[in-house]
Amino acid sequence: MKELWKRKDLLGLQELSSEEIQLILDTADSFKEISLRAIKKVPALRGKTIVNLFLEPSTRTRTSFELAAKRLSADTVNISASASSFTKGETLKDTARNLQALKIDILIMRHSAAGSARFLADILDASVINAGDGAHEHPTQALLDLFTLKQKKGKIKNLNVTIIGDILHSRVARSNIWGLTKLGANVTVAGPATLMPVGIERLGVTVCTDVNKAIKQADAINILRIQMERQKTNLFPSIREYRDLYGIDLEKLKNASKDILVMHPGPINRDVEISSEVADSSYSVILDQVTNGLAVRMAVLYLVAGSAAVLEVN
Ligand code: CP
Repeated sequence: MKELWKRKDLLGLQELSSEEIQLILDTADSFKEISLRAIKKVPALRGKTIVNLFLEPSTRTRTSFELAAKRLSADTVNISASASSFTKGETLKDTARNLQALKIDILIMRHSAAGSARFLADILDASVINAGDGAHEHPTQALLDLFTLKQKKGKIKNLNVTIIGDILHSRVARSNIWGLTKLGANVTVAGPATLMPVGIERLGVTVCTDVNKAIKQADAINILRIQMERQKTNLFPSIREYRDLYGIDLEKLKNASKDILVMHPGPINRDVEISSEVADSSYSVILDQVTNGLAVRMAVLYLVAGSAAVLEVN
C-alpha cells in the first residue's frame, strides 16, 4: 500500500488515477470493521496531530473526520470560523502558517473559495485534505459515494448513475463525476438548464433536463441539495416549481428500476429535492453513506499520513 500512495495531500478526484481511488476504497474496506468493535480504536496514527479547520458549516464531514482521527488514535483540534481569529481579520495564509508553527501533521479544511485547499497545500509542509472548497471538489464525499455504490451493487464499472439537481454549484457533483467516470460508470446529470454548467459534457457525462427520463435507466440516483448559499441570482421560479419538476418522490420512482439506489450527500431538504417518503424508503442508502464516510475518511487519513507500513488493527 505504502508504495502506491505518494501524495502529501488529497485535494480532489480530478488529479487521482483510478488505481489511487481504488486503493482508498480497498483501504476503507479494511477499516470498516474497526467501528463494529467494542473498543473502536487502533494505534495507526498515534502521535499525529490533525486539525479540522471548517470555515463553512458541516455536520457529517467534520464529525466523521474527527471520529476517524480519534479511531486511529491521532490527537485532534477543531477550529470554526466564528471562534477563531478570522473574526479579527487574520488571513487564511497566516492562520495556516500559525498552525504549521504548532507542528501539526494534517490540516483538513472546508472553505467557500474554490482552490483554497490547493493554495494551502502549496505553502504548508503539513498534509492538506480538502473537505469541500466552494463549488470545486469534495473528494471524500465522492469516495464514500463510490464505496457505497460498490458495497450495494458489487461493482462500479458500467453502472448507470444519475446525478440530479443543482449541478452548477455542486462540488459533490464534480468530484462524483471524476470518480465515477474514472472507474468506468456511465454518468448522467439531470436538472434545470439554468443549474447545468456550460460544457459539462466535456467531463464525459450525458446531460438530461427531463428528470423522469434520466431516472428510468439508472441503477442509482444521487440527489443534490439546491445550494441557495451559492446562488447569486434566482435560477428557477420557485421552490414549489422545482419540487414539482425535479424533486424526487415515489411517483417519479414508479418508472425506475425496482433495485434503484437513492443517494444524497446531505444535508437533505425534505420535500424539496427529495420527498420524506423517498428519503426514508427502502431505496434510500443515505445513512449507509454516512456510515461508510467514517471508514473512507479513516483510509484517507491513514494513507496521507504515510503510515501504511505500520498498520496495526489489532
Ligand atoms: N455531505 C456533506 O458534506 O455534509 P456536511 O455539510 O454536513 O459535512
